[in-house]
Amino acid sequence: MSQERSERDTVAFEVIDRVAWVRFNRPEKRNCMSPKLNRRMMEVIDELEFRQDVGVLVLTGEGSAWSAGMDLKEYFRETEAQGLAGTRKAQRESYGWWRRLRWYQKPTIAMVNGWCFGGGYGPLFACDLAFAAEEAQFGLSEINWGILPGGGASKVAVELTSFRNAMYHALTGETIDGRKAAAWGFVNEAVPAGQLRARVSEVAALLLAKNPTALKATKDAIRRVREMTYDNAEDYLVRAQEAANSYDGEGRKEGIRQFIDEKSYKPGLGAYDLRRTASANPA
Ligand code: ACO
Repeated sequence: MSQERSERDTVAFEVIDRVAWVRFNRPEKRNCMSPKLNRRMMEVIDELEFRQDVGVLVLTGEGSAWSAGMDLKEYFRETEAQGLAGTRKAQRESYGWWRRLRWYQKPTIAMVNGWCFGGGYGPLFACDLAFAAEEAQFGLSEINWGILPGGGASKVAVELTSFRNAMYHALTGETIDGRKAAAWGFVNEAVPAGQLRARVSEVAALLLAKNPTALKATKDAIRRVREMTYDNAEDYLVRAQEAANSYDGEGRKEGIRQFIDEKSYKPGLGAYDLRRTASANPA
């Protein structure tokens, strides 16, 4: 592509059956994240967050990459040339949408279709679940071009995998494939590339059948309790459920009713029928 892509065009998305499929859309640059892409991504996820017709967001990449990390030219070299203010602005724009995604209203799934490097670990961790093509390649390549894994990438590695794995990964800059990424805990599962979308659609459908208020409370709980003592977590979880009740007073009662009175489902084996409660309407 000889002409530069417009900011608007750096991200593509469509909503199909309540799943928002959002794509890094700079395949000619292996979907590396430029300031333009970061700004556009924030706008897109912002637009989708409270849409009634969206229940799950999937983040994937157009072409052969998920994301080749930060754009070394536009994110590093060109913003550094603008001095500290330029660097800080670019950091805010990228870290900003990753943070937004970490605490997103809807459950999120990273569908890692190809290359995933460095800064790509930010959005990878921001997504609640992650599925990769077995053929995908993951790497903390920072060491290969002379920096440390910043932008949260070091933190993501130690959050997701063992100390020894993280250290080896960061010090050597060697890539691992999707299968190893699953074994290391970077993603939930790896499947052959040809089956990736079908598997992710299956998981998205599972999530769409759950109470949306409970999904948001649960995803936040799993992230928050990681850094709490047991007693703090116990207290937080009581309060988080009570806060969730203020948004959804009837959902859980209906869940109990369909099991205990109606005997129409078993909570151990699947979700209650959402369509028969007020909480069928997503937040
Ligand atoms: N920053 C800037 N440009 C990039 C980046 C990047 N991170 N990744 C790819 N590109 C550009 C290339 O410069 C090239 O541009 P050109 O067509 O104008 O020459 C184009 O994308 C295609 O890249 P190729 O290298 O030709 O693609 P190939 O498929 O052969 O290789 C690979 C893919 C392995 C991903 C390679 O592009 C690569 O190593 N990219 C850098 C990965 C990386 O280390 N990212 C930084 C991580 S550290 C951080 O994010 C903080």
